[in-house]
Amino acid sequence: MKERYIDPFTPDLPIDSSDRFSGRIKEIDSVIDSLFQLANDKPKHTIITGDRGIGKSSVLIQARNLAEGNLDLAERLGISPGLDNYNFVCAWHDCATDQTPSALASGILSQLQTSLENLFGKLKIELNIGGILTVGQKEDSSVSSLSEVVELFCAGLARAANQAKDKGKSGIVLFFDELDRVETSSGVATFFKLSAEKLSRDQVKSVAFFAAGITGAIQNLEEEHGSIYRTFKDVPLPRLELLEVEQILKEGFNSVACTYENEVIQKIFELCAGYPEPVHLLGSQILKSDSDDHLSADDFEVAKVDVVETLRRNKLASMLRKAGSGKYQKILEAMASYGGANVPLTHITQTIGYEQNQYSANMGNLLKRDIISSVDRGVYCFVDPLLKEYIARFGVINTEDENNSETEL
Ligand SMILES: Nc1ncnc2c1ncn2[C@@H]1O[C@H](COP(=O)(O)OP(=O)(O)OP(=O)(O)O)[C@@H](O)[C@H]1O
Ligand SMILES: [Mg+2]
Repeated sequence: MKERYIDPFTPDLPIDSSDRFSGRIKEIDSVIDSLFQLANDKPKHTIITGDRGIGKSSVLIQARNLAEGNLDLAERLGISPGLDNYNFVCAWHDCATDQTPSALASGILSQLQTSLENLFGKLKIELNIGGILTVGQKEDSSVSSLSEVVELFCAGLARAANQAKDKGKSGIVLFFDELDRVETSSGVATFFKLSAEKLSRDQVKSVAFFAAGITGAIQNLEEEHGSIYRTFKDVPLPRLELLEVEQILKEGFNSVACTYENEVIQKIFELCAGYPEPVHLLGSQILKSDSDDHLSADDFEVAKVDVVETLRRNKLASMLRKAGSGKYQKILEAMASYGGANVPLTHITQTIGYEQNQYSANMGNLLKRDIISSVDRGVYCFVDPLLKEYIARFGVINTEDENNSETEL
């Protein structure tokens, strides 16, 4: 039996500590630039976008650590902050599905109030959270109630920003994670646009918003309101490169004094297609499968089977069901049969025997259902790369049910 060890991998938690955060130099540089601009009274609202599980919350947490003055990550990546340090007051809000602008505004202001009180003791200023909630109760998504919420929100922020400045802070950064969860019809995109414009008109220059959300859903918000990308600077997160995946695994394995064959890194990279979440999952599982503190290709095979057949089996099965039947399953089967992770449409067309225009609506739905993601023009991959392995092992559900697939929404 191996000695008990602390699992260095965190498949279900975003990365908080800077030394476990891998890669992303360009994106962190962009985040730091937004903080630098804000410290110089040029607020740059910023949104981190990418696929599910690509590492958005992790980047947002790193942004908060940097904004609060912990510059370890900047140092490690060799990125100059442009200033000796940052000392912003930060507040964090996780968005919920039924979130309206007033719920969002009052939620983040309550967090801000707590942050200010932790720093300076009981506040003498009124952020007027109650006022926003009252407007929220009669909220009818009409323009007038939305602008009332924006007025109250920005007035509260202006008072908080003055207080922060008086106490020697450089300003305020408000973080909104999971912005993709809000309904497109909620008015939230317009709320951000109006708030950003109002703050700018009122010369409140030391407050910025940082948000994160899944690319497709943020694009839906954009389609509804045509304003998200005008309000926010977009920082898209690409999939990880081999070296970045290697860094995650190497540090994890080293921390528990396990040696490994390079082949293991390569195999995990290929299976995970650049997504960090399954890398953590496999890293964690391969340490469990191993018995001699040396990780080999055999240990990888055991870990892969455990993950696909046991740990993730229910999740992958339910993804496959969610995809739809008939043509949908044929498409997924064709994608799984391709050699690499990034599948060109030409391969799908050849394999399923339909012309592209006969299944383009199905591709659109698979994207919407979060089963596949678009890599490039005419190139797609699975959102959960393990689905490929699941299909290879268990097959798809039912490819015969044509009528059902045609009438699916
Ligand atoms: N830069 C990174 N270095 C190492 N591990 C990372 C990195 N980014 C993300 N991870 C790991 O990947 C997984 C997913 O990260 P995270 O929760 O940040 O993604 P997300 O995009 O916010 O996901 P979701 O779409 O579910 O909200 C976690 O296990 C996290 O530990
Ligand atoms: Mg997240």
